[in-house]
Amino acid sequence: MRVVFIGDIVGNVGRDTVKRLMPWLHEKYRPNIVIANGENAAGGRGINAAITRELFDWGVHGITMGNHTWDNREIFDFIDDEERIIRPANLPPGTPGRGAMIVKANGKELAVVNLIGRTFLPPTDDPFRAADELLGDLRKKTKNILVDFHAEATSEKIAMGWYLDGRASLVVGTHTHVQTNDNRILPEGTGYVTDAGMTGPRDGVLGMEKEGVIRKFMTGLPSRFAVAEGKWVLSGVFVEIEETTGRAHKVQLIRVDEDSWIAS
Ligand SMILES: [Fe+2]
Ligand SMILES: [Fe+2]
Repeated sequence: MRVVFIGDIVGNVGRDTVKRLMPWLHEKYRPNIVIANGENAAGGRGINAAITRELFDWGVHGITMGNHTWDNREIFDFIDDEERIIRPANLPPGTPGRGAMIVKANGKELAVVNLIGRTFLPPTDDPFRAADELLGDLRKKTKNILVDFHAEATSEKIAMGWYLDGRASLVVGTHTHVQTNDNRILPEGTGYVTDAGMTGPRDGVLGMEKEGVIRKFMTGLPSRFAVAEGKWVLSGVFVEIEETTGRAHKVQLIRVDEDSWIAS
């Protein structure tokens, strides 16, 4: 099974990039399934119904979220009914939505789990124990499992990769918006990358307008950041999974921006 994972889609630049590059992604990686992190899709903060529909129309089969899940309140209207979008699993019991889903597309089935870290992020339940519980159930249904671990600290993500080695097909980090080049296959067959990076405006600070962020760092005064405009970057991960075992055969970084894509 061939899977493309698209890192945090930020604002309209990020969405336009997904739409524009989907044919290119299909030509280059021939994915059966496309998963995307959509926690910043609506103006950098959360996601709404119209954007969710658009992403599905453009060929995204499943959406994961993160610490910005609830920023756009529209999500409460559809997260319980829409089976193709998940939020972090390790939130308190009774939280709307689900933390795992089985994505079916092009004759393939991929379980997708979303977890959120606890280091330098608001407190949540333990993502490691949440992973134990979810993977125990999911692995009775399929060995093809993608885990989006939305976390700040590289150490927490690397630890999760080791902890899930042999139990997931891919552990991919999200949230920092900066792609790491440590893609590898762990000894028991789990593909791993610390962060997939972001899909959005290339020349801001993590997708936000640089001027406001610089001002905030220099003055400490409160300011509301806007999503940056200008040139785009698309970041993600391609994984090839041996379906019978669930082991990753290949884990490649995807990173292309407006200049390099036009040149290619
Ligand atoms: Fe994000
Ligand atoms: Fe995040």
